[in-house]
Amino acid sequence: MRGRIPDSFIDDLLARVDIVDVIERRVPLKKAGREWTARCPFHDERSPSFYVSPVKQFFHCFGCGAHGSAIKFLMDYERLEFLDAVEELAQTVGLKVPHDGGERPREDRTDLYGILEAAAAWFQRELPNSAAAQAYCQKRGLDADTVQRFRIGWAPAGWDGLLRALGTTPERLALLDQAGLVTSGERGKRYDRFRERLMFPILDRRGRVIAFGGRIIASADPAREGQEAGAPARAAQQGDGPKYLNSPETPLFHKGRELFALWQVKQAHARLARLLVVEGYMDVIALHQHGLPIAVATLGTSTSADHAELLFRAAPDVYFCFDGDKAGRAAAWRALESVLPRLRDGRQALFLFLPEGEDPDSLVRKEGQAGFEERLAKAMPLSEYFFEELGHDVNLASLDGRARLAERARPLLAKLPDGAFRDLMRQELTRRTGVQSAAGVNAAAPRTLPRAVAKRSLVRGVIALLLAQPGLAEQATPPYPFAALNQPGVDLLIELLELARARPGISTASLLEHFAERPEAAALHKLALVEFPADSDKLREEFADALIQLARQTVAVRISELTGRQAESGLSDAEKAELRELLATKGRR
Ligand code: UTP
Ligand code: MN
Repeated sequence: MRGRIPDSFIDDLLARVDIVDVIERRVPLKKAGREWTARCPFHDERSPSFYVSPVKQFFHCFGCGAHGSAIKFLMDYERLEFLDAVEELAQTVGLKVPHDGGERPREDRTDLYGILEAAAAWFQRELPNSAAAQAYCQKRGLDADTVQRFRIGWAPAGWDGLLRALGTTPERLALLDQAGLVTSGERGKRYDRFRERLMFPILDRRGRVIAFGGRIIASADPAREGQEAGAPARAAQQGDGPKYLNSPETPLFHKGRELFALWQVKQAHARLARLLVVEGYMDVIALHQHGLPIAVATLGTSTSADHAELLFRAAPDVYFCFDGDKAGRAAAWRALESVLPRLRDGRQALFLFLPEGEDPDSLVRKEGQAGFEERLAKAMPLSEYFFEELGHDVNLASLDGRARLAERARPLLAKLPDGAFRDLMRQELTRRTGVQSAAGVNAAAPRTLPRAVAKRSLVRGVIALLLAQPGLAEQATPPYPFAALNQPGVDLLIELLELARARPGISTASLLEHFAERPEAAALHKLALVEFPADSDKLREEFADALIQLARQTVAVRISELTGRQAESGLSDAEKAELRELLATKGRR
């Protein structure tokens, strides 16, 4: 995703925008010394612990740990994807986003978005023309505001209503085709894909129409529909086709990556604490209408890994709602599996099972917002559901049963990201089975490691200096004498030096942005927080000193390595020469 925009463009962009401007426009900032401060927009707090550094061009909250560049701020604050945040920022400074190969550039999609928007408007205009469609909306209890908010429309009967309205030129016909709005018969004759259906536009993260879902309406009694699905009389009455028909996959629409109503949810909340994932269009719409504008739906697919990430980016708590029947349970477990790898600390997944024969639409109408809230309050945390489901057919009183539970749980728990939640889940497994999870022991290692080296090593010190003032990189010219030093962080330091040398004037945040998706990102950000005196001569001196020390360390380490081996197994002639040379160098210093 990120890869399609060249790094150099991201650098230019971050050099052009001022993070203080970007944030100030959304959060009132106060000057505090060299920095700006505010009450953190990402968590609740009384006194400000959110800082914006104009020098480093990044923000950091000492309360909740949120941090990053102007791009990251937009992603978090406006809940945008990386590409969308980049486009939005680029617009404000008049840059056009280039795209490397792969997909065609977004700019060229304007027409496609245009035709989908025109189609949505056309369907909306058709709705009042159909008495049947209006009666159906009324039967399903949709109020005018909801119809408006979800831009519900009507695709009339006939074969070419939309085609004739919008397909006025060969170009527009081709667009209708690409947008998935028409299909072709055997002899290549085009006709409208959606006919005699209630139309639900599917919007992307920026509120643009990218696809549709269309529902047949023929039955007069929606309550009886479920039971009579496929009844011959109805089939004859309403023509063929499934109850819901979705747009096909198109350049703009990939159903595994979209969530119905996420746009409406975001519109309804400045900050979103929870999301509710349900199965159907009508479920979402009913929940929104009845005071729960936190509902979204996957589009006829199970929750994918992409969905999971999208959900947790939007809100820390995600409730998954399923039917209580066998199919519902199976779907819930699939959702759990997609969610596990995304459950970083601070994210929570909960599971809500409905009584058989009910769906969220029917329940919220019956019980209202308060009733549904009560159900949400009783939802099962993932941890509980996890152990209940895995242990439902094993006898925990027996040794075999406990061993089986441990065996089933282990590979799943291994999918959880490193963190307190994973540790707790492993402890819980141990509590339930008495079996120590071997992986748990390993898992502790990487997390204690940073603490062990928390006393900053020399390499870390140099990196911190470089991050504080990337311009220092000029002082180090390759070949770097410390390149041979076999120590953690050395390769990273060299990478940073090369980057900073290639882009004079790069800011701290831009430098960090290059590592945004790498495992080192968090550690780098921590080092970037280290404060140094503002005196740049002094910084230069410190940096030069540190580089000399690094070179010395390299020599010392190599000498002890060679002398050690000399005593043990002897050295080759080349190594002996190297050792002599090194000892001489050391003497000179
Ligand atoms: P349901 O059949 O459970 O429908 O499908 P529902 O949401 O309760 O719909 P109403 O209340 O009868 O109108 C749940 C979801 O599965 C997808 C749709 O996204 C639907 O909302 N689906 C269902 C399809 O994509 N195609 C179908 O033919 C049926
Ligand atoms: Mn329903």
